[in-house]
Amino acid sequence: MNRDAAKNSSISPISPVSHISPTHRSPRNPTTRPALTADLCHAVVGRRAAAVELLRAAAAEFAGRIAFACSFGAEDMVLIDIIATERLLIDIFSLDTGRLPSQTHALMCETERRYGIGIRLYFPERDAVERYVNTHGIDAFYDSAALRRECCRIRKLEPLQRALSGRRAWITGMRAAQSATRAALPLRQYDEINALEKFNPLADWSETEVWAAIRLAEAPYNALHDEFYPSIGCAPCTRATAVGEDVRAGRWWWEEEGARECGLHARRP
Ligand code: ADX
Ligand code: SF4
Repeated sequence: MNRDAAKNSSISPISPVSHISPTHRSPRNPTTRPALTADLCHAVVGRRAAAVELLRAAAAEFAGRIAFACSFGAEDMVLIDIIATERLLIDIFSLDTGRLPSQTHALMCETERRYGIGIRLYFPERDAVERYVNTHGIDAFYDSAALRRECCRIRKLEPLQRALSGRRAWITGMRAAQSATRAALPLRQYDEINALEKFNPLADWSETEVWAAIRLAEAPYNALHDEFYPSIGCAPCTRATAVGEDVRAGRWWWEEEGARECGLHARRP
């Protein structure tokens, strides 16, 4: 669906993110507040210990050459909490595309304050952004799949290459249950796209376990999660999801399912 088709559909191509203010935070999203039963807490304590062990071993194996890519999603807040509280020697970086929701920027500040850590930000190349926007338009990603991919290439993939330059390993917050394309996600793999080792310490966690870990640690998280945004990327390319929808249904929602990857983790179709 291109921008005109999206305009005529029941789904607005304009991100609902910009209409959410912090004062409208909803306490009604049960996903972000799971009942902390004894069984769940026990499971999460075990999962957290396994993630700590994996990360500690990875930090030792790739000393000084390993980094965590943080998008400030719920999974990433669990990993930040582990890296910061366990004092693991792992650099943390984030790709600021220039189109992130203000709630994500607010969380960046809150996270640095809360844990007393610095998170390195990478921005897109100015010339490439100016060329793209002045040639195709500020929101041209709605116009075609090719223009969407080009925007992701400029704003995410090129900065990721710089962030990973000189590294031997990187860490992500991906989970297998997030989508069919991630179903076989291992805890550790060789990343052929970037020619590095890649660790996914939460690969086998459920969404409920992620939220239980956040609640147990009283970790900060993105206000948009309470507003039914299970997966958060750039503001214009992210919307809330309905109950029962796939967790990534709100990402690039106007595109065909299966094509909805930006290329950070999968070769694009
Ligand atoms: S994406 O490919 O669709 O954007 P997703 O939002 O599911 O990925 O995030 C999966 C993981 O990719 C995150 O846990 C994080 O490790 C990494 N990631 C995604 N976006 C960013 C970003 N802007 N900066 C740093 N890491 C990111
Ligand atoms: Fe551009 Fe949207 Fe990709 Fe962000 S998610 S880089 S705004 S196309």
